[in-house]
Amino acid sequence: MSDKQSLTVLVTGASGGIGSAIATLLAERGHRVFLQGRNAARLQHLKASLPFSARHRVMPADLLDVEQRTALVRECAEVDGGVDVLINNAGISSFALLSDMSDSALSGLLNTNLLVPMALTRDLLPLLQRSHSGAIINIGSAFGHIGHPGFSVYSASKSGLHGFTESLRRELSDCGIRVHYLAPRAVDTDLNTEAVIGLNRALGNKSDSPREVAMQCVQLLDSRTGRRRFIGWPERLFIKVNALFPALVDSVLAKKMPLIRQYATQELQSANHPISSSGEAL
Ligand SMILES: NC(=O)c1ccc[n+]([C@@H]2O[C@H](COP(=O)([O-])OP(=O)(O)OC[C@H]3O[C@@H](n4cnc5c(N)ncnc54)[C@H](OP(=O)(O)O)[C@@H]3O)[C@@H](O)[C@H]2O)c1
Repeated sequence: MSDKQSLTVLVTGASGGIGSAIATLLAERGHRVFLQGRNAARLQHLKASLPFSARHRVMPADLLDVEQRTALVRECAEVDGGVDVLINNAGISSFALLSDMSDSALSGLLNTNLLVPMALTRDLLPLLQRSHSGAIINIGSAFGHIGHPGFSVYSASKSGLHGFTESLRRELSDCGIRVHYLAPRAVDTDLNTEAVIGLNRALGNKSDSPREVAMQCVQLLDSRTGRRRFIGWPERLFIKVNALFPALVDSVLAKKMPLIRQYATQELQSANHPISSSGEAL
């Protein structure tokens, strides 16, 4: 790939399953990646595994911390060539009934999955505007389009991210920055706990590899005109059915509630319940 086609891409959550797969595929395609996440050791390990390792950079930061986020944006601005593409991928999940969620769990989820992408995008806009290929890709979820019991706050965060993406795409339409949205279904990563994996199996939900999601993400970036993409069949159909006939989906999911409660209880009783590791408010 010539230097002209080679983009510099900031991937948040690059230490995680989907982020590392996206960063790897981008590097394989000749792009330069800025690897963002909290776990510096994992980011260094990923960087060392990438083709043309020396081109890439590790940029550890807790994005919930305003000072660390500001320092990240400053570092991006100081690097020669700037940043062409921001992939807002960092995220957390929580499988819990609403009645079991604390205030800090609510704010941790909403801040990480919704406020952070908004704030980071705003702060990087001047840099993205300097690029001839400026683009933003927000990683949402099928659950942002099918409100799922046990994931009400996660679903709300991803639904909000979709609304943000759509509005921003229109707002930036005369600025030359493309704004995309990618909604995976379940993916085989550490985001999903044993209880979530068990629930998915019991419900017959299929899951994809992080590499598959990365391929869809890079295709979206290459397509230039693609606005949003939903991964997986029959999930794409369910999303349409849910939009047209929500009462139908209400009654299907109502029948699954005993199963969902059973796995939510398992999750609550497990030591690594994600709501206990949620971040602080912005
Ligand atoms: N896995 C799924 O089933 C699935 C399905 C649909 C959508 N998604 C979405 O895909 C995205 C990636 O998820 P994943 O499955 O790859 O999860 P993952 O393996 O748990 O990775 C999550 C990433 O987010 C980073 N992160 C979380 N909080 C952060 C913070 N405060 N500051 C900086 N980085 C932070 C983590 O960093 P550290 O590890 O370094 O702390 C990690 O790199 C998320 O937005 C998720 O909602 C996932």
